[in-house]
This record gives sequence, structure tokens and C-alpha cells, in this order.
Amino acid sequence: MRRLVLDRPALSTVALLLASVLLASAGQALAEGNAAKGKAAFAAKCALCHQVGEGAMPLIGPPLNGIVGQKAGAFPGFAYTPGFKENFADTTWSDKNIDPWIADPKALVPTSPMALAFAGIPEAGERADIIAYLKTIPK
Ligand code: HEC
Repeated sequence: MRRLVLDRPALSTVALLLASVLLASAGQALAEGNAAKGKAAFAAKCALCHQVGEGAMPLIGPPLNGIVGQKAGAFPGFAYTPGFKENFADTTWSDKNIDPWIADPKALVPTSPMALAFAGIPEAGERADIIAYLKTIPK
């Protein structure tokens, strides 16, 4: 009986530890972006021009399977614009360099169809969600 009483503080310490671990991982998920939300945002804002998944075909833009970690401008047979090729020569896509491109394509390649027909995603959290989603799509 005594033992139970003594165990109580230990139990609440464990609960506190668990709570802080959960909070920390929730914070991390936020900074990393939410892939489920990103999927919806991609469908609403990018899928008009970009397909993903099995059998993805070029539309106005190239398919984006496995794009994070891939060389820019590398989809076989896609006619990238000269401005895009120049700006992204020797670029490998990462969270860091996709972010400004989808935030404001006009600022990077004003002549790209992506810049001409798409205003970009001004909200950093939404960009992080979309990037997190792109990372879940295998090549
Ligand atoms: C109006 C059509 C359009 C929309 C909308 C659009 N894009 Fe694009 N995107 C393009 C085109 C076209 C290119 C190729 C650029 C060029 O050749 O100038 C491109 C290129 C890209 C590339 C580089 C691909 C590669 O092979 O290197 C990424 C990454 C990309 N877009 C992501 C996105 C994301 C994410 C969204 C939504 C937030 C989006 N795009 C919305 C048309 C679009």
C-alpha cells in the first residue's frame, strides 16, 4: 500500500516527461510542414500544371515525383525555358531552394510560365506543408 503512494510522484514525473516530448514533437511537425495539409494545397494550387504519382505526365509544368533531392530541369524531354535553365543551372532541389521558387517564381525567373500564370504562395507555413508533401512522393 505504501508503495503505491510513493509511486505517485514518479508517475506524474513520467506524465510530465511524456507531455514535454509530445509538445516538442508537435513543434517539430509544425516547423517541418504538414504533408497532409500540403497534399490539399498542392491539389488546389499546383496540380493544374504539375502531376505527381505513378504515370505522372508533363502538363504545363513537368511531373514532380521525387523532386526534392533531384537536379533542377532534369525531367527527360521537358522543354524548360532558357531563363529557368540559366537560373537553376547546377541546382539540386532542397527544402531551402524550393521555398523561394514557390514563394515568388516571378522574382527568380520572370519569363517562366510558372511565374506568368501563378502568383506564388506567400504564406511560409503553407509552403512548408507543400514541400513536406513533395518529400513523400517517391521518384
Ligand atoms: C501555371 C502553371 C504552374 C503552376 C500553377 C505551378 N507551376 Fe511549377 N512549374 C511550371 C513550369 C512551366 C515549370 C518549368 C519552368 C520553366 O521551364 O520555366 C515549373 C517548374 C517547377 C519546378 C522545377 C521542376 C524541375 O524539374 O526542376 C518545381 C519544383 C515546381 N515547378 C513546383 C511547383 C509547385 C510546388 C507549385 C504549387 C505551389 C507549382 N510549381 C505551381 C508551371 C507551374
